[in-house]
Parts: sequence; structure tokens; C-alpha cells
Amino acid sequence: MSKINSFAKNLRCPKCGREYEINEIHQLCECGSPLLVSYDLKEAAKQFNKESLKGREKSLWRYRELLPVQDDENIVSLGEGFTPVIPLKKAGEKSGISKLFIKDEGVIPTGTFKARGAAVGVSRAKELGVKVLSMPTNGNAGAAWSIYSARAGLKAVIIMPEDAPSITRNECAAAGADLYLVKGLISDCGKIVARSVKENGWFDASTLKEPYRIEGKKTMGLEIAEQFGWKTPDVILYPTGGGVGIVGIYKALTELKELGFIEGKLPRLVAVQAEGCSPIVKAYNERKNESEFFEDSKTVAFGINVPKALGDFLVLEAIYKTDGCAIAVDDEKILSALKELAQTEGTFVCPEGAAIYAAAKELRKDNWIKEGESVVLLNTGAGIKYPDTLSFDVPYLEKDAVLPLR
Ligand SMILES: Cc1ncc(COP(=O)(O)O)c(C=O)c1O
Ligand SMILES: [Zn+2]
Repeated sequence: MSKINSFAKNLRCPKCGREYEINEIHQLCECGSPLLVSYDLKEAAKQFNKESLKGREKSLWRYRELLPVQDDENIVSLGEGFTPVIPLKKAGEKSGISKLFIKDEGVIPTGTFKARGAAVGVSRAKELGVKVLSMPTNGNAGAAWSIYSARAGLKAVIIMPEDAPSITRNECAAAGADLYLVKGLISDCGKIVARSVKENGWFDASTLKEPYRIEGKKTMGLEIAEQFGWKTPDVILYPTGGGVGIVGIYKALTELKELGFIEGKLPRLVAVQAEGCSPIVKAYNERKNESEFFEDSKTVAFGINVPKALGDFLVLEAIYKTDGCAIAVDDEKILSALKELAQTEGTFVCPEGAAIYAAAKELRKDNWIKEGESVVLLNTGAGIKYPDTLSFDVPYLEKDAVLPLR
């Protein structure tokens, strides 16, 4: 891999504006807010343009200038990123959205977009000398961080709710992580992690408590812009739990705009949640800048069962600044959207991804999505990671059976 400079400059608090040194380990700002990586975009613009990307490898590492890893030696990669954008012609006809696309993260290592955050987060943790990291997870992030930590030679201590998809448990354990289950929600797991990292001096890799996972997820936004020939789509829908993905996409688009790669209005960003866990939707409906803890949350779309996100104010800002919106869909609609996409398009998406298709249909019905607008569904993971979410009655045959003509 050729040596390309990172233009990461420092860590900046989006709440109080405090700045921190980039080459030291920092978690939250003194004021309690997440920290974000700032780049010297003026300097970057002198050396980095659309042409620079020609011929580079088709992974998220093609955007090295806009990633925080300083030294190539510290990159921990399994070839993640540059996932396909696929037109959904039949689903588009069915839903009345003539320019409907899916960006499919199901084909990435570990089967979900969490690999992006893990690749960049673990690379940066390694670069900063971290030996042990710990995080609460709804399953997929823990699996990805366990796998990338194993590759990097770091110890991962993962805590997940007992209801998390069992496949993700096995991924963590197979990768040699220290894995613990909790009879509770991700918020309960988070409290155990917070106490344990304090006690043991571990690196806290919880959502937005370290500044680098979001930089990996940001690459979804960079890719969408590049894959659309630097003319961005009108609407991007994203299944929102902790909110890192949607905030990352917004960060990517604003950085690209400042660099002069894209112009004009940014795509309207839509945070999609499940009705059984919709704190961001409630805050959006009340035009608030922060959400409240969503009691007794429950949904089949396990990855978006996050009752209170640390970065909720950043999610809401991304929605308001792009004239986007937040919408909730119920589990029944999620499951029927999942089957519909698989059966009409051959795309077997995760329940979180199915939620955004269900939401797009609702938004088209309400004419929030207008005729002729281009719409990207960000499918965050593969349906095969949820083997037990759907169940079908499959008939048995006798060994000497002959099937009738259909
Ligand atoms: C498949 C899937 N989609 C979406 C999300 C939500 O991600 P974010 O934290 O970026 O909102 C998760 C998080 O666990 C997930 O596993
Ligand atoms: Zn601050």
C-alpha cells in the first residue's frame, strides 16, 4: 500500500469547541460530549482531488487523506469497503420510487457495515498503543471488533445482551474475545463497560466514546458520493441505533463539500427506527435537539434497539441541517419488507435494512419522497446473519416422491 498522508489535524468537541491533540488517547470531551476528528481540509485540497482516487484499491482505504490512521504499518484490513450500489428496479416500481438503489453492506467482512468502524477504530487503537479494548454491543459491532482485534493482536472484552443474535456471540468467541452476556439491554452492558474500563485502565471502544469508529463509517458517505459520480442522490435512508452511521455520512458529505468534490444541496438524510425503539423519531417529532431514554424498547431489528444514543444531538443535527426527517416503522412492516426485497430483487437484507425499505415506501406514500427523486437505501448487513428472524413452513418429501409440474 503506497504511503499517503492523513490530513487529520486534531480532535474537536462539537458541543463546547475544546480541541485535543490527535496523537494522544482521548475518549470523551471534558464536557461529556463525543469528540470528532478534524482535518486540515485547506491543505488537503491542495494535494487531493477526484483524480487522485483513480487506480486506487477498491476498499475504504482509498480515502486515506480523510482517515485518521497516520502510518500504513498500523492498518488492520480484511479488504472492507467499496460495497456495491445496486438499482432496485422492481422494488422501485412497486413503491413508486423510480430511482431506487441499495448500497449493500452485507458483502463486507463480518457481514455488516460494522467492519468499517472496526477496521479504522482498531487500526487507530493499535497505532495509539492500546492493548485491551472493551465495548457493549447489540452483536454485530462486537463481532467486527473481535475479528479485527484478533488480526491486530489486541484483546477485546465484549459485553452483549443475552438476546443478541447468537451468531454474533459465536463470532466474538471464535475470534478469542472475552465475551460476557447480560440479561438486559445494551445500555445496561454500557454501564458495566464504563465501570470496568475505569477500574482496569482499558480503552473504551463504546459507540462515540472513542473518536475513530465514526471515521470508518464515514466512508459509506464518501463512497456514495464517488459511486454517484460526485452528484449525490436526493435522499439517503439509514437504520439508526447509536447513530454513528448517519452522523458519519453527514460528516463525509460536509468534508467533501468543503474540499470541493461535491456541490449544491446535500442529500436529505433520513433516520429510520423501529416503532418499538424510536427515541430519535420522538425527539424529531417534537423538534428537540436531544432525545429521551426510550423505556422498555423491543424490536426484531436488534441493531437499532438503542434506547438512548450518546450522539443523539449529532443525529438530529444531521437530519435538521439536510432537511431530512426521522420515521419509525413497526416490526410487522419490517418483516414483510424483508421478504418483499428478497423475493422481488434477490437482496436478502438484515431486518435493520428492511426497515429502511418499509420507511421509504411510507415516505413516498406521503409524498415526502417526490416523483423522480433518487433514493439510496443503506442496507447495513446481510440477512444471513439473522438465521432465526424469519421462519417458514417447509414441506417434507418421502424419498420416492415425484413433484407435480408447476
Ligand atoms: C445491522 C445494523 N444496522 C444498523 C445499526 C445501527 O448503527 P448505528 O450505530 O450506526 O446507528 C446496527 C448497530 O448495531 C446494526 O447492527
Ligand atoms: Zn466539549
